[in-house]
Amino acid sequence: MARAALLGARAERVLPGASERKGQMLSQFLTHLPRYVARADAALLTDVDGREFIDLMGAYGPNLLGHRHPRVERAAERQRHNGDTMGGLGTVTIELAEHVVDRFDPVDWVFLGKNGSDATSYALRVARHATGRSRVLIAEAAYHTAHDWGTMFPNGVPEPHRGLTSRYVYNDAESLRAAVDDVSGDLAAIMLTPFHQGFYERPQVATPSFVQAVHHEALRSGALVVLDDVRAGMRMHPSGASHERIGITPDIVCFGKAVANGRAVSICAGSDEVREAADAIGYLGTFFGSSVAHAACLETFRTFDEEGAFGRMLEIGERLSTGICQAARDADIAVEVTGYPTMAMVHVGHAPGPYLDHVWAAGMIRRGVLIHPTLAWYTCAALTDAQIDIVVERAADCFATDVAAEVAARHVG
Ligand SMILES: Cc1ncc(COP(=O)(O)O)c(C=O)c1O
Repeated sequence: MARAALLGARAERVLPGASERKGQMLSQFLTHLPRYVARADAALLTDVDGREFIDLMGAYGPNLLGHRHPRVERAAERQRHNGDTMGGLGTVTIELAEHVVDRFDPVDWVFLGKNGSDATSYALRVARHATGRSRVLIAEAAYHTAHDWGTMFPNGVPEPHRGLTSRYVYNDAESLRAAVDDVSGDLAAIMLTPFHQGFYERPQVATPSFVQAVHHEALRSGALVVLDDVRAGMRMHPSGASHERIGITPDIVCFGKAVANGRAVSICAGSDEVREAADAIGYLGTFFGSSVAHAACLETFRTFDEEGAFGRMLEIGERLSTGICQAARDADIAVEVTGYPTMAMVHVGHAPGPYLDHVWAAGMIRRGVLIHPTLAWYTCAALTDAQIDIVVERAADCFATDVAAEVAARHVG
């Protein structure tokens, strides 16, 4: 840990929030987390002290095909020889936009940004301009943006900026209806994530009846449906678009995280119905036209299709979940896996609260498997069968020793 500790001390001096972020890890058990990473290959991470980890967290979403996937890297490298941010757009940007329009339905136009927040904030601005209204509804504990309208960290955000955002309870049609009634007449958009996980909450997929309610409430109120697929995009449906999985036709859809396999690209896309509004707003960014990132994104889509990445990620998620549950049963430890196979979470023990989840995650990290106690895993298509077997073996050891010892010592579980 010598180099990590040194880097940690340096980071705290120059990166605001570095020490607070450490506090947010919330657990003495996570002192082994690889906070400073030297390199990443396929599904393996090596930290600055030379420790290797099988990466089940995928950089919290972006690692889709495997870190530094050769096809994506080659495409980026080819474009790098021609230029990256060049003032005018590169051909590849147009090719990417055309691909997205052909790929997703109902999509007739595309905005390209860098972070998911660029895309969701752009979507909201389009919705506001299209409807001539100002308010937006989001789910309690949903994370859509770092920007003032939706950040979950209130410090430094003036009340009027937050005041236009109201909340409903995810998967609760009654609460959505009440929230719509509350802001009646001024609702620009209902924002929905296909996959929801608030801090310390279990992940949930939007239920068919709730999706129906969103559709109904949007029609009733005249608001647009903005589907925020920044987190779940590429992980819930073979096309990459989760709205095809949950069964809704959004007016505007946002992608980010995984679409360029680790490079900074986000996408907001919509149909011709809202095209005039999209044309009318100004929303600029110095690096929004980065050709290298766009080449990586286009190649990520092609590789995802040609290598059957979605099916593989689903299979990996199912194998992990079956293997881990069996390992827990063998050690007489209760577990439950929630979420979606590609984005799932292991809950350990019967006791309320995440205590044993922390014990389990810390034990796995000590054994060289990167997993998080309060966030879902993100499978990447590069995880091999041999690595899955290793994860399951280490899980068995962790349940039989670390978790069993805690259960015995504290009479929890
Ligand atoms: C559902 C969702 N939307 C938007 C964002 C914001 O994306 P970014 O952090 O790239 O700005 C996130 C980030 O975690 C997210 O999970």
